[in-house]
Amino acid sequence: MVDLPIDISVDLCGLKMKNPTMLASGLVGISGAACVFAAQHGAGAIVPKSIGPREREGHKNPILVEFQGGFLNAVGLPNAGVDQSLIELEFAMKHCADKGVPVILSLFGGTKEEFGEVVNKLSTLNPAMLEVNLSCPNTASDFGRAFALDAQHAADVIRIVNQNTMAKVSAKLAPNVPDIKEIARAVVEAGADAITATNTMPGMVIDVATGKPVLQNKEGGISGYAMKPIAVRCIYDLYKTVKVPIIGSGGVTTGNDAIEMIMAGATAVQIGTGIYYRGIEVFKKVTEEMIAFMKKEGYASLHEIRGLAHRE
Ligand SMILES: Cc1cc2nc3c(=O)[nH]c(=O)nc-3n(C[C@H](O)[C@H](O)[C@H](O)COP(=O)(O)O)c2cc1C
Repeated sequence: MVDLPIDISVDLCGLKMKNPTMLASGLVGISGAACVFAAQHGAGAIVPKSIGPREREGHKNPILVEFQGGFLNAVGLPNAGVDQSLIELEFAMKHCADKGVPVILSLFGGTKEEFGEVVNKLSTLNPAMLEVNLSCPNTASDFGRAFALDAQHAADVIRIVNQNTMAKVSAKLAPNVPDIKEIARAVVEAGADAITATNTMPGMVIDVATGKPVLQNKEGGISGYAMKPIAVRCIYDLYKTVKVPIIGSGGVTTGNDAIEMIMAGATAVQIGTGIYYRGIEVFKKVTEEMIAFMKKEGYASLHEIRGLAHRE
């Protein structure tokens, strides 16, 4: 055991994070107070629930089911709409900033123009960074194919977002594409400052007693344990392809999971389903486990670990 001071701080596009863990969008962070709650419990940054142009109820229950390898959800992007969300988001930004925790606002739209409309309104809050949800897999019945499934459409959205904001922009991509590198190149060329990899993976769980899909929406997005190797592979490929920071998302539950993503090339890691597995303390636990690992292995900072898996 080497007794070194361990530096786990992160600079993400100029945002200072005390540790590399982030609350993933859609988990817990529905209200401003919930975002502050995650910040109080050690999250290094917060991504609140994705906000769209107008109020949406989302899908009907059941919207979430656990299976052996993770969770399947089809929540359907319920939100109050951007106008009604500004007060909650402002509250989250102010009170998280008091704790030294940056808030990255997440948004979606049904059309490219709607992304522009939402960004325009969010920009009144002067956010430092936005996460553009191009990749929700559960809303095809309302919006059609997710933008992240097509390089051209994804890039068009990022261009519109950039035209309407001074904030840094992370493009949240989908894992279910033949070549995530192609989509990443297109969004970076269109001005994305970071990539979030990835959103959930389409899946289905059938109840054999009834013979029917469990979720009301029938299909949903897989999150949790099963997502980790998928996300790690995406991050690994992206690290070799684009020069912007990569935010890992998918299955991070322990310090080792976070280290694995950083070794693949991630700058920071989001935690969503890990909260179901380990409670809101997951952010502190993952951070402590990362520090314990680094002490044991003799690493003094995350720079020494980032991208390590690419060594020949
Ligand atoms: C219940 C639920 C709701 C989610 N809502 C959103 C959302 O509003 N916007 C978004 O970009 N991602 C959303 N996600 C995806 C998560 O942010 C995350 O990318 C994904 O769950 C993988 O990470 P995890 O395995 O740590 O949960 C949601 C996931 C779950 C499980």
